[in-house]
Amino acid sequence: MYNDIDLTKIDLTQNAPAEEPQRQYYFIAKARELIRERSRQTGRPLTACIKTFGCQMNARDSEKLRGILEMIGYEHSESEEADFVLYNTCTVRENANLKVYGHLGYLSGLKKKNPQMIIALCGCMMQEAEVVDKIQKSYRFVDLVFGTHNIFKFAELLVTSLESSRMVVDLWKDTDKIVEDLPTDRTYSFKSGVNIMFGCNNFCSYCIVPYVRGRERSRKPEDIIREIKDLVKDGVVEVMLLGQNVNSYGKNLEEPITFAQLLRQVEQIEGLERIRFMTSHPKDLSEELIKVMRQSKKICRHLHLPLQSGSTPILKKMNRRYTKEQYLDLAARIREAMPDIAITTDIIVGFPGETEEDFQETLDVVRRVRYDSAFTFIYSRRTGTPAAVMENQVPEDVVKDRFNRLLALVQDISKEMSLKVQGQTLPVLVESVNEQDSALVTGRLSNNLLVHFPGGRELIGKIVNVYLKECKGFYYIGEYVPDAGEGSRSGSDEASAR
Ligand code: SAH
Ligand code: SF4
Ligand code: F3S
Repeated sequence: MYNDIDLTKIDLTQNAPAEEPQRQYYFIAKARELIRERSRQTGRPLTACIKTFGCQMNARDSEKLRGILEMIGYEHSESEEADFVLYNTCTVRENANLKVYGHLGYLSGLKKKNPQMIIALCGCMMQEAEVVDKIQKSYRFVDLVFGTHNIFKFAELLVTSLESSRMVVDLWKDTDKIVEDLPTDRTYSFKSGVNIMFGCNNFCSYCIVPYVRGRERSRKPEDIIREIKDLVKDGVVEVMLLGQNVNSYGKNLEEPITFAQLLRQVEQIEGLERIRFMTSHPKDLSEELIKVMRQSKKICRHLHLPLQSGSTPILKKMNRRYTKEQYLDLAARIREAMPDIAITTDIIVGFPGETEEDFQETLDVVRRVRYDSAFTFIYSRRTGTPAAVMENQVPEDVVKDRFNRLLALVQDISKEMSLKVQGQTLPVLVESVNEQDSALVTGRLSNNLLVHFPGGRELIGKIVNVYLKECKGFYYIGEYVPDAGEGSRSGSDEASAR
């Protein structure tokens, strides 16, 4: 475990060891020396800021990067007016990509005020050759660029950058490597993401993720279990198992294992209270998984099941490998097995060739599945993906109109679904003091709904019973029930019918 590593015992007069993670600890020790020296020269501690764009994978990667920076001796800064600024980028839609360029303009101004400042870029966007070309041409003030496959090498790259006056660029096309046991600095003390796999092999025709995250690789179950046990020892009560398609976990391991089997092992970990996971690809969701979820006391009553489109011909063009009917049947089986489960989804509007008829099929699925909530996206053309060169790209005004109609429907249904638990008393994991009103704390139900209720900061990280008094659309106002036993107080369990 990295907690046991004593950096002062690392002999920096020797060459760096070849094997990982020892090699990275050597460079952490070396960077620490260099940063100490710089800090002595400036007469103050040096600060570092990481900004994360994109999904939970990136958020988890940023925790690892922050763990390394902390060990090196940087002080954490929320503001980008820092000595080291790292953007962990996303490129799933064009908007994510544009945001980064916008922010870079701002950083260039800051660097003029603090020429010692180091600016680094990493993450999915950096795996695109055109992006890196553009940065090398037009953003010369950037000091360090690396990608998703060599993120474990951050300490080593930082040392190279500290010792160089030129832009350091290190990008790998792909990797089969998984480096374990590097430090992390968690955002929350009581919950944590845990990668169970990296990359994606699905190649949905609109999606850039397989190109920027590489081929699917699963971590060994024993490494995952060990990490979660350590997290629990450190105060974590909820884990979110992360993968682009958790349902295909373990297929390529030397000793293959299913995701459902992994969940059974995670369930056994004493002291762990809640298990979440994301994302589930509908084509690989097994009957075994539904059974494990139903029997589990720890797996939360929430399933994120991206639909993308309700039209079978569009799904085929998207290379999703399920039909409308198969999806509906799956959702029905899940609801039947676990009537209290929340099902959420992702939907793309305006995929090339989408007709009004196709769109109506999407609305039909939304009405039938009745999502507890849904992320809706306007199709974004990603260079290099098969869909980018498909004919019949849908005009913008048509897409906008469909998007608005979909959003209205999704929100109506979501409000009705939220009402289902009104009047019940349910366990809530308290996450923070409420941002608007410090007399309230904010927590999450097993089904992922947010609840605000009067309470103090000492409740953070605890699972407490809360009476769900008033549904405010997508969240609840509740009351803390200190001595209530398990279960429902009023028993009211009706969905508001239309
Ligand atoms: N692996 C996950 C999703 C990762 S990306 C899965 O398969 O569900 C998150 C979401 O972004 C996707 O579910 C999809 O709805 C959306 N998305 C991906 N590529 C997109 C694109 N080119 N345009 C619009 N939305 C996109
Ligand atoms: Fe993208 Fe599809 Fe892989 Fe999800 S499963 S990351 S949508 S290619
Ligand atoms: Fe974005 Fe990369 Fe995640 S492209 S959505 S940060 S995997």
